[in-house]
Amino acid sequence: MSTPVRASDTPFAVDVQAGKDYYWCACGLSKSQPFCDGSHKATDITPMKYTATADSKVYFCGCKASANKPLCDGTHKKPV
Ligand code: FES
Ligand code: FES
Repeated sequence: MSTPVRASDTPFAVDVQAGKDYYWCACGLSKSQPFCDGSHKATDITPMKYTATADSKVYFCGCKASANKPLCDGTHKKPV
């Protein structure tokens, strides 16, 4: 499998901490969205590391089609 699964029709709002690393699920198979739980091992997709630059709320892409991965860019609103 090399095409991500659409895990959600909307982004996931997460309060991130400055300097902390987050591993965003790029394959869409994780049961711990929006983060990787290792389920991608059956695919050729790997998670994407995101390092928070500030304590803030960010919106991780759930549809897995954002052009600004791992963050939502509004692409989820387009018809599939
Ligand atoms: Fe999706 Fe790891 S479970 S990238
Ligand atoms: Fe993927 Fe918004 S949830 S672009």
